[in-house]
Amino acid sequence: MEGLNAALATIATTPAMFGRCCQMTLRHKDIHGRRLGSTGDFAIDFEMRIGRGSSAVTYAARDRATGEQVACKVTNPRRVGSDGAERERHILQMLNHRHVIAFKGHGRSSGSARHHLLFLEMASGGDLFDVVAKSNGKLSEDVLRRLFSQMIEAVAHCHSAGVAHRDLKLENFVLDAAGDVKLIDFDLAHVYGWQLKEGASVIDRSQPLREPCGTMGFAAPEVRTRAGYDGFAADLWSLGVCLFAMAMGCLPFNEATVVDPEFTAFTRAIASGCSPTEAALAGRRGPRRSLALRAILDGLLSVDPLKRLTISELQESAWLVSARPVPSPGHGAAVISSTRTSPH
Ligand SMILES: Nc1ncnc2c1ncn2[C@@H]1O[C@H](COP(=O)(O)OP(=O)(O)O)[C@@H](O)[C@H]1O
Ligand SMILES: [Mg+2]
Repeated sequence: MEGLNAALATIATTPAMFGRCCQMTLRHKDIHGRRLGSTGDFAIDFEMRIGRGSSAVTYAARDRATGEQVACKVTNPRRVGSDGAERERHILQMLNHRHVIAFKGHGRSSGSARHHLLFLEMASGGDLFDVVAKSNGKLSEDVLRRLFSQMIEAVAHCHSAGVAHRDLKLENFVLDAAGDVKLIDFDLAHVYGWQLKEGASVIDRSQPLREPCGTMGFAAPEVRTRAGYDGFAADLWSLGVCLFAMAMGCLPFNEATVVDPEFTAFTRAIASGCSPTEAALAGRRGPRRSLALRAILDGLLSVDPLKRLTISELQESAWLVSARPVPSPGHGAAVISSTRTSPH
């Protein structure tokens, strides 16, 4: 990353609410000649790049106190604005879920670039884009269900905290060493406020969001409209695109706008009576998938956000519920039964 090393001289310390704030004190070469960033709490290995996104580069790092391997996401504020990087840090500090990447600490480089450094739990198993690219539409429904259930759990946790992610896509779901899903990349996320309604505190989604954001191909059709959009409903469309890609091995269209002829053909096919899944397959047969899975895709790829599945409807959908562990009467913990398929 251009200019980064020059910037890694000293980092001002800011108090962290949770997790630690790193103070970058010096930069040196170790005996193997690797470029290392030496910080108060974390050592960053700039030779070990583990990922690159549209605004950040991620390197391997180590927690000096515990020896734990962590990831260091380095964001250039010129690319996302300081707002995005700060927002991501605050959101990660708010969230706490096994399928959302855990925040470990943060820092800021000195010098003109003032890169943001975010220390995160390491997810060393690659991302879902690679899984889909390698599988070529051949993932079994059991594997799909396991991955997608974890993706839904992560998004449901964000929504319950008032956070709309707004950039859900296969590249932003990474896997840890055990193959479990972790949701990353919150620099475009929106945090809704709360209001009192009938004595209870509820998330206030009365005002539509107007900032067009997300990634072409995954962003909901309403995100680019003047009327604005609901961040949670837009996330559900993006989850639908992810599931379609995981199940069928290809994206439904390049972008959900009239500019894309495939999307125009998709809306026309729906108007003439096709289901969204059939319309998105555009005459291709696609891999054999159960009706219950197709029903979820149909519910998520609804162009009308008001008719789209909600996260709780999704969690209760037949495809997911049929394989859920059955709670055993008299025992608090869930017990997996190989014979029963319904929890009722
Ligand atoms: N905690 C992590 N563990 C492993 N890889 C990560 C982690 N966080 C980010 N990455 C990698 O870095 C890339 C860029 O990070 P991301 O947060 O998506 O930034 P961007 O906003 O640039 O897309 C990701 O696509 C992923 O490959
Ligand atoms: Mg990303």
